[in-house]
Amino acid sequence: MSSGGPQRPTDRTVRVEVPGQPYEVRIGSGLLSQLGEFLNSLGLARPGSHAFIAYDSRLPDATVAAARQSVESAGLRVSSAFVVADEASKSISALEALLVRLAQSRHERREPLIALGGGIVGDLAGFAAAIYRRGVPVIQCPTTLLSMVDASVGGKTGINFAIGPGESDFLKNLIGAFHQPALVLADVSTVASLPDRQFRSGIAECIKHGLLSADFGDPDLLGWTTSHMETIVARDAATLIELIHRNVAVKAAVVKGDERELSPAGGRALLNLGHSFGHAIETLPGLDLLHGEAVALGLMAATTCSAAMNRCPKALPDEVKAVLTKAGLPTQLQGLPPDDQLLARMAHDKKVEGGSLRLILPLGTGRSMVVRDPSAAQIQVGWAAIRA
Ligand code: GLY
Repeated sequence: MSSGGPQRPTDRTVRVEVPGQPYEVRIGSGLLSQLGEFLNSLGLARPGSHAFIAYDSRLPDATVAAARQSVESAGLRVSSAFVVADEASKSISALEALLVRLAQSRHERREPLIALGGGIVGDLAGFAAAIYRRGVPVIQCPTTLLSMVDASVGGKTGINFAIGPGESDFLKNLIGAFHQPALVLADVSTVASLPDRQFRSGIAECIKHGLLSADFGDPDLLGWTTSHMETIVARDAATLIELIHRNVAVKAAVVKGDERELSPAGGRALLNLGHSFGHAIETLPGLDLLHGEAVALGLMAATTCSAAMNRCPKALPDEVKAVLTKAGLPTQLQGLPPDDQLLARMAHDKKVEGGSLRLILPLGTGRSMVVRDPSAAQIQVGWAAIRA
């Protein structure tokens, strides 16, 4: 059921039932040119009010213009600022610059901040929205596959933080807030302009969802994704709408059950499948990995660990390798540092709780589980699997 806003027959909607602030994720083609109508339906287009658009500097001018014109047509005054979408933008200084622009534009408490871009823009602008005037509504308009299926949904926002000069002192997403969006608009026409590598990087999060989706309403997601990979990589709009719809539905079910990632049974922590390994290598200088590529390698490592620990069928690592390869994602990497350095980086990860590492392992048949305190030897099996 829809709570309002324009709806065309090809559009899909997922309702994210978080306590106190349920919201919709709309998935379709051309949605950005209806952004103003959506703001109106949410009561955020009062006469004379203001909207602020934080957008990815690499987006085509036409995409930013479509969003801006739509919001202006709804009668709002619009200010905007671009964000350079690299990890360096998830910093205190970039946050401060955005907050200064918001304040200079006289943005008020009930006025929307629109995050138009990939995960970096969504994380930074979402966090600014969480703290500016103690919280303003944020509309997430993801423009990458990765942010459509994962980052824009569920309210996680934040920035990275360095606690010292060393490489292992740079901590991803250390500072942030849960700030659920008022609406997510996933306009699949925006992924047409993505570089191939960046587009494929988003498929890694879909494969991750397929390895845990059976407990969240979609037991066949991995099978469907594997059998539709040709049309997915060809960016067929109808296939992408279906892919995003199914992935967002899984993510919404996970988030509904454990919004703040507190469940001892796994819950939202399951979404970190592949990320303990992935985060340890994602920001290493010289490796030049995109987030989804690091996740792909992390999925391979976690699945190999799981098989070595007899938690999943022995054939699962080969199945995961086959689907990652079909998606054009890496499954091995040259230039990894020695295991002791990788283990030290994992120990710093935010998935460490009470001093113990929580590793997520796939079990096969679309299920995953949390394992506490795996031994160094068990983790090393994973690193060995992806070391070329
Ligand atoms: N991307 C993992 C989460 O939203 O919890």
